[in-house]
Amino acid sequence: MSDSRTSADGGMETSYGFREVPTGEKQGLVNEVFHKVAKRYDIMNDVMSMGMHRAWKDAMIVSLNPRKERGYKVLDVAGGTGDIAFRIVEASNRQAHATVLDINGSMLTVGAERAKKKKLSDNLTFVEANAEELPFEANSFDAYTIAFGIRNVPRIEVALSEAYRVLKRGGRLLVLEFSEVDLPILDKVYDAWSFNAIPKFGKAITGDAEPYQYLVESIRKFPNQENFAAMISTAGFSRVTYTNYTGGIAALHSGWKL
Ligand SMILES: C[S@@+](CC[C@H](N)C(=O)[O-])C[C@H]1O[C@@H](n2cnc3c(N)ncnc32)[C@H](O)[C@@H]1O
Repeated sequence: MSDSRTSADGGMETSYGFREVPTGEKQGLVNEVFHKVAKRYDIMNDVMSMGMHRAWKDAMIVSLNPRKERGYKVLDVAGGTGDIAFRIVEASNRQAHATVLDINGSMLTVGAERAKKKKLSDNLTFVEANAEELPFEANSFDAYTIAFGIRNVPRIEVALSEAYRVLKRGGRLLVLEFSEVDLPILDKVYDAWSFNAIPKFGKAITGDAEPYQYLVESIRKFPNQENFAAMISTAGFSRVTYTNYTGGIAALHSGWKL
């Protein structure tokens, strides 16, 4: 299942939140969102998820179980302000090297400042580039991680095939993303929180509700657990599995390049 489809006039379209836009226009709109929110991104993450994103990210790193050896190389795509890469380096006893790749220089600037404060810069490289066109040779990384990033990428299937290309044989793909809630009461509470509270908090904290409206809408447009697992398999990955967190509010998908 692909997120891109042909419109009535024959062009390719994809969803930008609840709107359909030409596939070529989505990235510019997404970039505006993250340029606007970059400085407040970390605080808004805590507010929007009531702190839960920290537990989900910690669980992702436990699942990855990074090797504690020099030469272990991870690519964290859509790495933003560095949350995943910092956790990987720390979990490897500062042995692993993580490349934080993001299309948005404003997010990377915040990430590089945080890395300096945490004294993790020696184990990190920041690269401004597109998940759909990774500037790395094939078979370069032991693991590819992406957290809350892939739903923002216009051509998800292209990003997944790039992930497959740059991983070494035996390498691991881990995708953490908002997903479909599968608990009857939680889904109502979650809808009310997402569509009423989050844009209001966004406006109060950043002065602008629109980026947060996009973020909650984009979550609802993302393929559910089964459909996304099928996309990962189609990209060539083996042993594809997923684990729901907090009733499916988030899910961790895993695949291997074997
Ligand atoms: C919600 S943030 C996630 C940041 C971080 N991974 C985290 O979990 O806190 C989404 C990130 O995806 C990035 N992004 C969007 N489209 C991208 C693309 N095509 N290639 C690389 N990064 C992209 C955005 O710039 C933004 O930093």
